Amino acid sequence: MKNVALLILAGAVLAGCTTGNVKVSDFSSVKGYTLTNKNGMEVKITNYGATITSIIVPDREGNMADVALGYDSADQYVNALVRDYFGAVVGRYGNRIAEGKFSIDGKEYTLATNNGENHLHGGLMGFDKVVWTAQTVENGVKLSYLAKDGEEGYPGNLMLSVTYTLTDDNEIVMHYEATTDKATIVNVTNHTYFNLKGEGSDTVLDHVLQINGSKTTPVDAGLIPTGEFADVTGTPFDFRQPKVIGKDINANDQQIKYGPGYDHNWVLDRKGGGLELAATLYEPKSGRVLEVFTEEPCIQFYSGNFLQGNLTGKSGRVWNRRSALCLETQHAPDSINHEGEAGWPSVILRPGEKYDTTTIYKFSVK
Ligand code: BGC
Repeated sequence: MKNVALLILAGAVLAGCTTGNVKVSDFSSVKGYTLTNKNGMEVKITNYGATITSIIVPDREGNMADVALGYDSADQYVNALVRDYFGAVVGRYGNRIAEGKFSIDGKEYTLATNNGENHLHGGLMGFDKVVWTAQTVENGVKLSYLAKDGEEGYPGNLMLSVTYTLTDDNEIVMHYEATTDKATIVNVTNHTYFNLKGEGSDTVLDHVLQINGSKTTPVDAGLIPTGEFADVTGTPFDFRQPKVIGKDINANDQQIKYGPGYDHNWVLDRKGGGLELAATLYEPKSGRVLEVFTEEPCIQFYSGNFLQGNLTGKSGRVWNRRSALCLETQHAPDSINHEGEAGWPSVILRPGEKYDTTTIYKFSVK
C-alpha cells in the first residue's frame, strides 16, 4: 500500500530568503511530502510552487535513480541563480503570451513581462514561486492556491488546485481543477525536467522520444507562435516514430535555430477528449521509460537548451546544457491571441465553469 509521509522543508529557508517579492511569513508553511508505492517508487513534492522535487524509479535491473532535477529545500528554489521552474506548476498561463497583452470580451489586459517583451509561465511571481495550501488525500497530496484578481495582471480570483497521487502502476497522476469569479485565462502545466539516466547525468541527446503529433505551431525569434500549423513530415520535428533526440537537434532549420534546439509546441493527434498517450521517452542504457498521458490538446517539448552548467541540484551534480528535458502538456502558447481561430481551442474560463484536466507521468522499463 502507498504511504504519504510529511517532512517540513522550511528549515533553512528564512536565512536564505533574500528575494524582495517573496513574503518571508509564507515560508513557515513550506512543507514536503513523500509518496511511495509498493514497488519502492518514491516521489517528493513541496507546496512551494506545487513542485515535484524528486522522482526515484528503478531501471531494468532494479537499480533506483532520481530522474527529476530538483533541490532539497525551498530556499534553494528561491535563491537559485536561475529560477527555471524546476518541477513546479507553471501558470496562470504556462508558456508565452506575446507582449503580455490579450483581451477578453473586448477588454484589454496587460500582464507582467519577464521574458524580453513577452510574458512567460505566469510572470514575475507565477504559481511556481508561491506557497500553496497543502492537504493530504488518499495516496497523495492536494495543493491549492487562490490567485487574486489582478495578480501579475490577470483578471479574476482564480481558485486552483492540483492533486498529485501515486499509483501502484508507477503513475504520478496530476489532476488540476480551477474556478474563477471573472472571465480569465488558464493554462497550467507541470515543469519537471527529466533525465532517465538520473538527475545530473550527461545530456538527454541519447534518449529516444516519440510524440503523437503531426503538426507543430511554428514560432518567431521570440518563441511566439506565428499562428500557422506546420506538418512535421520530413522535418526535424517528426517524432511520430521513436527518434533519438540528438539526431536532428542541430539541424540546419530555422525553427531549430530559434529554439535553439527543441522548444516547440506539438498539436497532439487526438482521438477524443479523454486521457490519451501524448509522448513516450525511453533511455536505452537504463531501460527506463516515461509515458505522458493527457487530456490536453498539445505538448511542449523543451530540450533544456537554456541550462548552462551553472546550477547544481540535490546530488551536487551540475546541470549541463541539454542534460534534462521537459514534456509540458498544455494549450498552445499565446492561444488567447488566436481565440476563435480554427485549431486554437479556447483558454478562457468563465464564472460558473470548471477547469478540470489531468496529466499522468507513467514510469516503466523495457
Ligand atoms: C519554455 C522555454 C523556457 C523554459 C524554462 C519552457 O517551457 O518553452 O522557452 O526557457 O520553459 O524557462
